[in-house]
Amino acid sequence: MSFLQTLAKVDNPFRKFFVARCPYFSCLFYSHVRKLFLKSLVKERPKQVHLPSELRRSIWDIQFRSPIFNAAGMFKEGEGYILACLQSAGAFLAGTVTPNPKFGNYRKGIKHPFLPYPHSKSSSNWMGLPNPGYLQVRNSLKQIEKQKDVPLVLSLAADGNMQGDLQTLCEVLRDAENSNFDFVELNESCPNIEHNGRNYNNLDENFLKRIEFISEKFLKNRKRNLPVILKLSNDFDPKNVPNLIDVLLDLQFDGLNFGNTSTDYKGLEQAIHPSDRKSFEYFINTFGGGISGSPLKEKSFILTQIAMEHIKQKSLTREFHIIRTGGIFDFDDYSKSVGKGVSLFQWFTGYFENFINFGHFLYLKFFTK
Ligand SMILES: Cc1cc2nc3c(=O)[nH]c(=O)nc-3n(C[C@H](O)[C@H](O)[C@H](O)COP(=O)(O)O)c2cc1C
Repeated sequence: MSFLQTLAKVDNPFRKFFVARCPYFSCLFYSHVRKLFLKSLVKERPKQVHLPSELRRSIWDIQFRSPIFNAAGMFKEGEGYILACLQSAGAFLAGTVTPNPKFGNYRKGIKHPFLPYPHSKSSSNWMGLPNPGYLQVRNSLKQIEKQKDVPLVLSLAADGNMQGDLQTLCEVLRDAENSNFDFVELNESCPNIEHNGRNYNNLDENFLKRIEFISEKFLKNRKRNLPVILKLSNDFDPKNVPNLIDVLLDLQFDGLNFGNTSTDYKGLEQAIHPSDRKSFEYFINTFGGGISGSPLKEKSFILTQIAMEHIKQKSLTREFHIIRTGGIFDFDDYSKSVGKGVSLFQWFTGYFENFINFGHFLYLKFFTK
């Protein structure tokens, strides 16, 4: 067992004890320690884990070792590609990055607030997309030796909401096309940054204008196979999913990911274990932020199911794939959606939950019934 797995195991009961009793100190502690843990994790060099070859996928003409990999926010600075290959992740996703560096959120003496809810397999964060900026991450990823079945994915968000920000985003996309990224996930769903008071849980006019702009300036003029997918919130209104997919197909997007964290505090409250409630109330009242993990299971399942039902009715002339993120923990979550036609999966909370029990074998164990 690696030192980090032992640490995670030892921390687990303490975490349960302190989060139930001391919201502020737990938040202060875990917001900081989470980053130290990740910094050490990306330096780990476990023995190569091998997955059965039937898990391989070819999607958009890109080879994936398996259909599951890390969600955005885990490897914000783009470190961890070698670890992902050794653990046998299906791909490696870097970011979210923005064109310019971002400091992120700071409040009540806490930088990049994060709070786990260990009894609920969940957490909240209000980080505000801290990242060193696209160029730094692109330059460091240029150095890596890529494995042909572990694609390199860039998660990208605009600096802001102005026309100029979108222009810059398209320039970054053009640059990414000349770099070694295999596909791009556009994050249009972070609840922790200002969107001029709007959210993109519906097909509002501003959202449509943004994606049309990206389509005209970049998608329709691509010079190589660089699929671009959109990541939206798990709070997206299910009844708008069919319309959304029609629009994305018209605009030449290549897929859709449901999705990002939720701000549906009232709706998800019941999914938070009574022992975690005090911390949950503290976090949403102090920061707001987005909820991750088990409470999103149902939402991400329903949204991706509706998406697949709509896609199956259409005769597509190009590939369009649905990715499910939110509350993915085990083989059951995977098989339920794979049966509906979902192509790819990402995990964040589930990755760390499984790391406690299985360490670097977490991808292998994921596929064990
Ligand atoms: C600490 C933290 C940071 C995150 N940062 C990002 C991010 O930078 N970009 C993004 O698209 N999603 C981000 N997310 C959302 C995750 O990628 C994922 O969509 C969400 O946690 C739901 O998946 P899960 O239930 O497997 O955790 C973050 C989540 C957490 C917990």
